[in-house]
Amino acid sequence: MELKHIAVIGAGTMGNGIAQVCATNGYRVTMIDVNPDALNRAKQTIATSVEKLHSKGKISAEAKQNAIDGITANTDMGAVADADMVIEAATENKTLKLKIFADLDRLTKPDIILASNTSSISITEIAASTKRSAQVAGVHFFNPVPIMALVEVIKGYDTSAQTMQTVVDFARGLGKTPVESADYPGFISNRILCPMINEAIFCVMEGVGTPEAIDEVMKLGMNHPMGPLTLADFIGLDVVLAIMDVLHDGLGDPKYRACPLLRKMVAAGHLGRKSGRGFYTYNS
Ligand code: 3HC
Repeated sequence: MELKHIAVIGAGTMGNGIAQVCATNGYRVTMIDVNPDALNRAKQTIATSVEKLHSKGKISAEAKQNAIDGITANTDMGAVADADMVIEAATENKTLKLKIFADLDRLTKPDIILASNTSSISITEIAASTKRSAQVAGVHFFNPVPIMALVEVIKGYDTSAQTMQTVVDFARGLGKTPVESADYPGFISNRILCPMINEAIFCVMEGVGTPEAIDEVMKLGMNHPMGPLTLADFIGLDVVLAIMDVLHDGLGDPKYRACPLLRKMVAAGHLGRKSGRGFYTYNS
């Protein structure tokens, strides 16, 4: 089936980034979120981003306009009825995702692919909440979505070769590089990234270094574009904690235990950039 209309569930950072790159690449996009304020914020974020990319000559005027005018915002999940593929980018919560996929299975055309942008939840389990597990795959984008080149594509236990080929081609069509991962907790990316961030947080807790020192070491010594604590604030400490818990539960090895300081900061509501405070403080 030719993909023309993509529905994106969730208008947060990842959802609006995915909606943007789909629209700038010529797809008709419906962005769905239960919260109308989130949809309005997402449209503003997209407009600012495409303006910046266009002013630097990275996208055409037509692509910019597609993203500004061509994304329909909707609070009703029923708007997926006409979609040719759905990409779910809702909050990283397993119960919620299983419910969303069961709903999507009822509400969408039976032959379409249902994809999840989950950062660590099992694609196999998500697929099992539908009656079309062969047509469920992971398409894991990276923040900031318009800039980052990678899409990790994840094959659930029953995902068909045809579904994998379609999502690989789709990612390439967005100008991204797809890399396939098997469906194990955290896939490739977060299995490696989050334990590194978690270890950096242990280093803060144990006084090995200040957040500034730790970030400087990783930036200057390892050429990382952001230090791990700046990156943790950027991703969201609640997301990092949720991923560490998935790794710990799913792999059962104590080396994946979340740092107590990470847990405490999340409990205190210091979630990083989005809450204004994490390892660093942010204005507005
Ligand atoms: N839209 C448009 N342009 C954007 C943008 C956006 N959303 N975000 C950044 N940019 C542009 C900037 O305008 C700038 O453009 P220029 O070079 O032409 O001036 C360029 O990107 C670089 O931005 P900055 O100058 O502000 O800052 P940096 O040079 O530090 O780059 C960064 C920002 C690209 C975010 C870089 O720091 C980086 O690559 N950091 C690491 C990001 C990363 O690791 N992401 C993955 C997180 S993990 C994840 O998402 C998975 C999840 O499951 C947890």
